[in-house]
Amino acid sequence: MLKTQDLGYWYQTANEPLFQNVNLTFDVGKSYAILGHSGTGKTTFLSLIAGLDKPKTGEILLEDRSLKQIGLTNYRRHDVAIVFQAYNLFTYMSPLDNLLTAMAITNAKHAGDKAYARQILKDLGIADDQLTRNVQHLSGGQQQRVAIARTMACDAQLVVADEPTGNLDEDNTRAVIAQFQKIAHEQHKCVIIVTHEPDVAAQCDHQFRLENKRFKQLA
Ligand SMILES: Nc1ncnc2c1ncn2[C@@H]1O[C@H](COP(=O)(O)OP(=O)(O)OP(=O)(O)O)[C@@H](O)[C@H]1O
Ligand SMILES: [Mg+2]
Repeated sequence: MLKTQDLGYWYQTANEPLFQNVNLTFDVGKSYAILGHSGTGKTTFLSLIAGLDKPKTGEILLEDRSLKQIGLTNYRRHDVAIVFQAYNLFTYMSPLDNLLTAMAITNAKHAGDKAYARQILKDLGIADDQLTRNVQHLSGGQQQRVAIARTMACDAQLVVADEPTGNLDEDNTRAVIAQFQKIAHEQHKCVIIVTHEPDVAAQCDHQFRLENKRFKQLA
């Protein structure tokens, strides 16, 4: 579904590339974990496949069309959903409005369907009285679950997440990973997660490690 072709990237200020000649394939119905030491370029890689930045060399293809052809704005709106560790919600809105707004903006199949949005949030353990409360008045773990609920409510086939369990306790981590597996296996989306935690990575269907400017497939 998503392919990188001889992908390379470096920041102008650096004198060597972060990674080069990266050729990877990601399929729908599967979850992938990317491991690697701090500063190796994991977030940078995610920002490329999320269409937030452009590769220096090579290309990224979605169903054989390059992101350049699709257009990055178009791609971000319809094809990819992003869960970042922080600043990932519309902060002045409730969980319910976060989902409804995202569904409307992306013109999702279930746009306007309040009952549908409500159910997804409930399935993720957001209580009735939290559905309409400003998200800033929720805990970190609850906000993270709202961010995941939002990707489930929209139709984007690709879900990328940067350290989605970075500041969660064990129970929340387990719940979040279970939900990502559900997104991959039941919603038939492609899930790509960056994580520092080997336990979290092990629960994904495939694992890569970014090391020495290359992505090594571990499983
Ligand atoms: N905008 C930028 N301009 C210049 N250098 C940058 C920029 N953003 C990141 N870098 C550098 O690029 C390298 C890779 O950064 P990146 O954030 O992709 O690493 P990471 O693997 O996600 O690390 P971590 O595990 O700590 O989150 C780092 O050395 C970082 O300092
Ligand atoms: Mg990072």
